[in-house]
Amino acid sequence: MTVNDSPLLELRGVRAAYHGITVLHGVDLTVAAGQVVALLGPNGAGKTTVLKAAAGLHPPSAGQLLMGGRDVTGIRPGRLARAGVCLIPEGRGVFPNLSVRDNLLMMTFCGRGREEIEETAYDRFPVLAARRTQQAGTLSGGEQQMLALARGLVTDPAVLLLDELSMGLAPLVVAELYELVAEIARQGVAVLVVEQFAAAVLKIADHAAVLVRGRIQWQGHPDSSLQAELSSYYLGSPT
Ligand SMILES: Nc1ncnc2c1ncn2[C@@H]1O[C@H](COP(=O)(O)OP(=O)(O)OP(=O)(O)O)[C@@H](O)[C@H]1O
Ligand SMILES: [Mg+2]
Repeated sequence: MTVNDSPLLELRGVRAAYHGITVLHGVDLTVAAGQVVALLGPNGAGKTTVLKAAAGLHPPSAGQLLMGGRDVTGIRPGRLARAGVCLIPEGRGVFPNLSVRDNLLMMTFCGRGREEIEETAYDRFPVLAARRTQQAGTLSGGEQQMLALARGLVTDPAVLLLDELSMGLAPLVVAELYELVAEIARQGVAVLVVEQFAAAVLKIADHAAVLVRGRIQWQGHPDSSLQAELSSYYLGSPT
């Protein structure tokens, strides 16, 4: 098997626990280069934990994490980040008291120069260029999400992990952001998107999985039947 035949990101039988309580009960998931995979599921299903496992922030208690076919289970988050795994956490992780520009320039740790970082970010998100001196905390929700995405993209990730991109944003803004995400995937990035409410992400997803109480209940092509059945997955899982 060559590296190119392997999915860029693979979770194989991943189990994860907090304080001895298992919340992922053997999750299998693959994301290929250029693919957008949507991971859906109700509150507390374990979606964020899947992303944390994929980013090395919460190592699996059993099972494997593979990148390009290589076993990277238990590898530290910093090393995974350098290998190209980028997590945009829920709540965006931008520094509200710093300017847009300073938020971006912090990313010099990834080894790219200041000019290159600003150029890459403003090229993709012209709105941020116009607001480069503005405090990030005073940006609109959509602009903050763009800043978070920009910060991730300047690291030139191979795998992009997005947690609840749509949180608190108007549907039009969400649709716009997902168009950008689709564009990023088209350039060869493997994208795994977590969402609780699915509609927007399903328009751009190549593959979808429904996680309920730490188990993948369904996965396949995100067609209209999935939309119709989603609520039954959610309602069928009392928490
Ligand atoms: N740091 C933690 N310590 C203890 N339990 C945790 C921790 N983080 C998550 N959990 C528990 O693990 C389970 C899965 O949580 P997780 O955040 O992965 O779910 P989620 O699907 O992302 O939910 P949401 O849609 O609400 O974001 C939940 O029962 C949660 O309470
Ligand atoms: Mg979550």
